[in-house]
Amino acid sequence: MSETKVNNKTEKDYSKYFQTTFQPPSLKEARRRRKKTVQFLNDFSIPEDIKGIGKDKKFLIRTYGCQMNEHDTEVMAGILSEIGYTATDREEDADIILLNTCAIRENAENKVFGEIGHLKNLKRENPNLILGVCGCMAQEESVVNRILEKHQHMDLIFGTHNIHRLPQLLKEALFSKEMVMEVWSKEGDVVENLPRMRKGNIRAWVNIMYGCDKFCTYCIVPYTRGKERSRHPKEIIDEVRELARQGYKEITLLGQNVNAYGKDLESVENYGLGDLMDEIRKIDIPRVRFTTSHPRDFDDHLVEVLGKGGNLVEHIHLPVQSGNSDMLKIMGRKYTRERYLELFYKIKEAVPNASFTTDIIVGFPNETDEQFEDTMSLVRECQFDGAYTFIYSPREGTPAARMEDNIPMSVKKERLQRLNELVNELAAKSNAKLKDQVVEVLVEGTSKKNPKVLSGHTRTNKVVNFRGPKSLIGELVNVRVTEAKTWTLDGEFVEKAGVSVK
Ligand code: 5AD
Ligand code: SF4
Repeated sequence: MSETKVNNKTEKDYSKYFQTTFQPPSLKEARRRRKKTVQFLNDFSIPEDIKGIGKDKKFLIRTYGCQMNEHDTEVMAGILSEIGYTATDREEDADIILLNTCAIRENAENKVFGEIGHLKNLKRENPNLILGVCGCMAQEESVVNRILEKHQHMDLIFGTHNIHRLPQLLKEALFSKEMVMEVWSKEGDVVENLPRMRKGNIRAWVNIMYGCDKFCTYCIVPYTRGKERSRHPKEIIDEVRELARQGYKEITLLGQNVNAYGKDLESVENYGLGDLMDEIRKIDIPRVRFTTSHPRDFDDHLVEVLGKGGNLVEHIHLPVQSGNSDMLKIMGRKYTRERYLELFYKIKEAVPNASFTTDIIVGFPNETDEQFEDTMSLVRECQFDGAYTFIYSPREGTPAARMEDNIPMSVKKERLQRLNELVNELAAKSNAKLKDQVVEVLVEGTSKKNPKVLSGHTRTNKVVNFRGPKSLIGELVNVRVTEAKTWTLDGEFVEKAGVSVK
């Protein structure tokens, strides 16, 4: 890249990024859903000239946001380790630092910009350090422009559709000493044979689909993640079988809207999440979870399959967003309060011991006190075991961002606080019911607060802490609950659990 002298200061010339050959990220372009069929690529490989460039070097990836990002980080870690890098969690030791970012709310973005600013000092001390931004924020025009203008110490920007290009992009960043940027605003392909360096050997994420076509009016995800595209069932089943063979105890099937799984597949007709789960149910892996669900696409076949139990655990995360049908309509959720409750009771009947969690947004434009009360009454009716609650955050480029954000922050905060009090009360109540009961726990490690205490989750996704030998890590055990707190349970070890897989 050429350099120009501006006010006696050497500045990089970014004009090349805006010439015809280069396409800056465009949310408008990302919105388009064309008829073009999804490409299934199986040709990922590390080019000869890139192999080994990470020898004796270390990488660090900071992950923000959802499980999809956590799993993308595992893929990037897999790619980096294939080219010779090893992982570190110390910034000072790293030769490359990647920020895998989240764009879902403004505060998520602010955190990342804070970190980008902080990394400037590190770069000053170590000019050879490669700094990169990837993930959902990299798909946003405004973010990319801000980095180009104000954060020229960054070396690399790449989008969610460009992860498989990391080796080439990294090489360019290493040898060109220029900011390298590649962000495709297309709907996305499915790249099958990417390496993965999984975090831990007990629980694993498995992507079943990518993208989202729901376009809820507040949400940036359909723009940053592209169109809905499902992996072939065979690829998923093979991956789960391999994880079972390696001794993993739990998998979580991942997608932005998992209930739409299969709709776009041309190779198999009428094959949905229910069919996939029915096959995975027969694989010898003790626990299977899935996230995230959209109530609109949650069909009867899936409900029926969940009712078969076995390794399909009794926890349903079913985001509702609002308890008021008019709000749901302007949020573009495509269901009413009544339809949500109907589905809720249907699942409850099929899976009587299920725990339910949800996502809720307060302070969406024009939300009245009465409409917010509808959300409170729905939460009370469903008696959720937990909820992620958010203040509405306008996202540039989404339809809701064009509406006036007219609920004062003080009102939004007050609603959030009242909602959280109710959510906490219900969580405590649901945990209290487990006192003195014996629950099955997958022991995942030691407690963050006390390394002498073991910690894990029940099938219903509740955290249980108890004392026991470290040799139990990775095992399924029965634990008697001795104390129920709002968000965790304390217990005592009873025995190792028998694994029942139908
Ligand atoms: N503002 C606030 N919360 C949001 N979510 C998604 N977009 C926004 C936004 N613009 C919440 C929804 C979703 C969860 C992942 O994040 O509740 O289910
Ligand atoms: Fe966003 Fe709605 Fe898609 Fe969820 S379903 S990712 S909230 S657009």
